[in-house]
Amino acid sequence: MNQFISVEDVPDINHLVDLALSYKQLPFKDSSIGRNKTLGMLFMNPSMRTRISTQIAARNLGMEVIVFNVDKEGWQLEFEEGVIMNGKSAEHVKEAAAVLGKYFDILSIRTFPGLINKEEDYSERFIQQFIKHAGIPVVSLESATMHPLQSLADIITIKENWVLPSLSGEGQGIRRPKVVLTWAPHVRALPQSVPNSFAQWINVWNETDFTIVQPQGYELDEKITQGATIMHDQDEALKDADFVYVKNWSSYNDYGIVLCSDSSWMITEKKLEKTNQAKVMHCLPVRRNLVIDDEVLDGAQSIVVKEAGNRVWAAQAVLSEILRTSEIKNR
Ligand code: CP
Repeated sequence: MNQFISVEDVPDINHLVDLALSYKQLPFKDSSIGRNKTLGMLFMNPSMRTRISTQIAARNLGMEVIVFNVDKEGWQLEFEEGVIMNGKSAEHVKEAAAVLGKYFDILSIRTFPGLINKEEDYSERFIQQFIKHAGIPVVSLESATMHPLQSLADIITIKENWVLPSLSGEGQGIRRPKVVLTWAPHVRALPQSVPNSFAQWINVWNETDFTIVQPQGYELDEKITQGATIMHDQDEALKDADFVYVKNWSSYNDYGIVLCSDSSWMITEKKLEKTNQAKVMHCLPVRRNLVIDDEVLDGAQSIVVKEAGNRVWAAQAVLSEILRTSEIKNR
């Protein structure tokens, strides 16, 4: 694996999931494969889970880690081709990425979308420029449209929490879990990266019955959601769900706009009554009593903290695959 930007970079999801679960059992079993290798972590936007879990993962593999908060500590970067740089930007990504490619063995980047220009965000212009000019493997720590480390952790979490309610009867052990991704309200316009990525990974994984439910106008890119059942009635969609993945996103069609603030879409215990005692997931951070209520988050059905814990093992599996299979250049 030479890069980790989306599920398209992954030859075998279950191999990564099994590797991650093996690291959960034995975190230091490959503690020397990253020796004398350095992971660079570039942040253009805030992060808690991704930042810390990926650092722990890299250290478990023996890597050095350098974190660079570009938004606060770096020169403002220019991404336009052929521009006269007489504005605010002091450095072009062509030099910045190439220089970082000399310092690090693997480069990881968090860069959110502007949510103004759909074509620009969906071209993944920023992370693609780093890939083009750094000349070393690049790992997404969440890009304009995808969050693959989160999605891998989500699939790990579903796999380890999928327990059939009844161990007797016909068809035991072969029923696929019903997974429902539901939109929920929020006060801000949020990216589509987490729901896009979750839908993409779940569809490729193809081991669940997958439904996406959202208010009218919140449909995600059809190219990404193809294969999922799309609904607009949340109560209907939640029936018999085994996993409920809760997330807000802004509109894809009316790009970046908040079209709905209907609080009846918040996930509550009442909403979960018709599910199959569904486990509740969210990538975090989550706004309590706006997206999911206290009772659910504090109750037994919530697995959001376990899910965040699995971010370490997801990142460790990805970094170890890159260390094992890519040609890390001599600097
Ligand atoms: N879920 C997630 O990516 O969390 P952070 O933004 O804190 O990294």
